[in-house]
Amino acid sequence: MSITFTLNGELRRLPAETPPAMTLLDWLRAAGLTGTKEGCAEGDCGACTVVIEAPDGARAPVNACLMTLGQAHGLALRSVEGLSAPDGAPHPVQAAMLAAEATQCGFCTPGIVMSLYAHARMGGDAHEALAGNLCRCTGYRPILDAMAALPVAEDTAPLCPATDVTAFGPPEHRFFLPRSLDETLRLRRDHPGAWILAGGTDLGLQFSEHRENPGSIICLRDVAELRGMTAGPEGLSVGAAEPYAALLDHMAHDADFAAFAGLLRRLGSRQIRALGTLGGNLGTASPIGDALPPLLALGARVSLAGPDGARDVAVEDFLLGYRRNALRADEVIARVFIPRPTPGAIFAAEKLSRRHDQDISAIGLAVLLERDGDVITHARIAHGGCGPMAARAPEAEAVLEGAAFTEAQARAAGDALARAITPMDDLRGTAEYRRVAARNLMLRLYWRAARPDAAAEIMALPTPHAPRFISP
Ligand SMILES: Cc1cc2nc3c(=O)[nH]c(=O)nc-3n(C[C@H](O)[C@H](O)[C@H](O)COP(=O)(O)OP(=O)(O)OC[C@H]3O[C@@H](n4cnc5c(N)ncnc54)[C@H](O)[C@@H]3O)c2cc1C
Ligand code: FES
Ligand code: FES
Repeated sequence: MSITFTLNGELRRLPAETPPAMTLLDWLRAAGLTGTKEGCAEGDCGACTVVIEAPDGARAPVNACLMTLGQAHGLALRSVEGLSAPDGAPHPVQAAMLAAEATQCGFCTPGIVMSLYAHARMGGDAHEALAGNLCRCTGYRPILDAMAALPVAEDTAPLCPATDVTAFGPPEHRFFLPRSLDETLRLRRDHPGAWILAGGTDLGLQFSEHRENPGSIICLRDVAELRGMTAGPEGLSVGAAEPYAALLDHMAHDADFAAFAGLLRRLGSRQIRALGTLGGNLGTASPIGDALPPLLALGARVSLAGPDGARDVAVEDFLLGYRRNALRADEVIARVFIPRPTPGAIFAAEKLSRRHDQDISAIGLAVLLERDGDVITHARIAHGGCGPMAARAPEAEAVLEGAAFTEAQARAAGDALARAITPMDDLRGTAEYRRVAARNLMLRLYWRAARPDAAAEIMALPTPHAPRFISP
C-alpha cells in the first residue's frame, strides 16, 4: 500500500508512512537528488521541471513543486540526474546546450535542460517549450541555437510500475486514486472533508507555498469517466480531468476551436498544461480563469455527477460568484460539453496579461456572433477579470444583435461593455485600465474578424531598430 513510481529507470517504493501530499520536489531533494531546484515553489519559474515519460515515448514536463507524491504513483519520471549516460557522458540535450554556450545559472539550467529534453520528443514551437522556464538572463539566443540543434529524441520505453493500489498514506492523511466514477462518489460520501484534486496546478499551491496538509485527498487522474474527449457534429465532450495538453492537441486540429486553442496555448506553460484541467478551472470559479469566457460565449454545459445521477448545468448557471460555483458537496464535475459555433459564426477569444505566457489574465474576452448575411442574429459576449466572476455582457450583446458587425458597432459594443463591468484595482491592473482594455479588446476582436491577416502583416513589418534574437 505504498506510493510506487519509477525514477530515472529505477523502481521506487516509498515507505507506507510517507505523506502523499508531500511535493515531489521536497521528496527529490530530501532523497539527495538536488539537481532539481526550488525557485518559486509556485509553478512559475520552471527550476523544478521534471519529465513524465509514457511507454510510447511521449514526454510531458511538469513542475515538481506543484505535484504531490500521490500524483506520481504509477508514473515513470525522469529528473535531471537521469539524463547522462551510465559512463557519465552528457545527454545529447546537455551536449547541445554546451556546444551552443547556452548554459544559464546553476539554478535555472537543470529546469531548462529538462524542458528541452521533453521538447526534443514533443516538437512544436521553441518559445512555447520554454514558456515555463522564467529566467534565461544569461542569454536567450544561445538556448534557441541549442534547440535548433537538438537531436531527434530516441524512442525510450520507460518502465511504468504495474500497480493496483488505489489508496495510500497514513490513516489520517489518505490519498485516493479511484478508477471509476462510482468509487469516486463513494469516497466523496465517506470522506466529506477530503480535497478533490485534479491536476493540482491550483490546489498544489496549498501544499507547496502554504504548506497545508489536508486530511484526505481524492485525486481524479485515473477516473475513466472523467478522462478522454469525444468530438461530434454538435460539439466536444471533454472529461473534466483531462489535462489541457490533450485538449489543446485536439483543438489545434479542429478549425471550429482554433480561437480556443490560441487561448489555451497561453494558459500557463507546457508544465501547467500537462496537469491542469478544465474541471479545475471551473472548480476554482476564479474570475480570471482563462477558459471561462470562451466556455460562456460558446454556451458550454457541465455534467455534474452525484449519488443520484448526473445533472446538466449551463456554465452560466454553474458560476455563482467570486470563487463560488453550484457544485454540491457530494458531486464532482464529470464532463464539459462545448458546442461548436454554428456555420458562418464568428468565434474569437482574447486575453491580456502582464506576460504573454505563463501568466494569469488581467482580463479576458470571448465573443460568439451568429450571422445571417451581414446581420448579427445572436451575440454572446463573455468577460473575465472584469468583476467578481466571469460573466456574460448582455448590454454589449444588445448593441450587436440585429446590427452589422462594423467598426462603429464594435466601438459601441465596447463602450457598452466598459460601462457595464465592475472591475477592481489589483496587481494585474487598475479598474480604469480594465475598462479601457475591455473596450479595446472588443475592437481588437472586430479587427481580427474583419482582417484576419492583419496581425501577421503587422508582425512582418520591418523594424529596423529592433534587436535581432535569432541567428540567420
Ligand atoms: C504557474 C501557473 C500559471 C497558471 N496560469 C494560468 C493561466 O494562464 N490561466 C488560467 O486560467 N489558470 C492558470 N493557472 C491556474 C490553474 O492552472 C488553472 O486554474 C487550472 O485549470 C486548474 O486545474 P487543475 O486540474 O490543476 O485544478 P486543481 O488544482 O486540481 O483543482 C482546483 C480546484 O478545482 C476543484 N476541482 C478540480 N477538478 C474538479 C472536478 N472534476 N470536480 C469538482 N471539483 C474539481 C478542486 O477541488 C480545487 O478546488 C496557473 C497556475 C499556475 C501555478
Ligand atoms: S520551483 Fe519554481 S516552478 Fe517549481
Ligand atoms: S537567475 Fe538563472 S538564468 Fe537568470
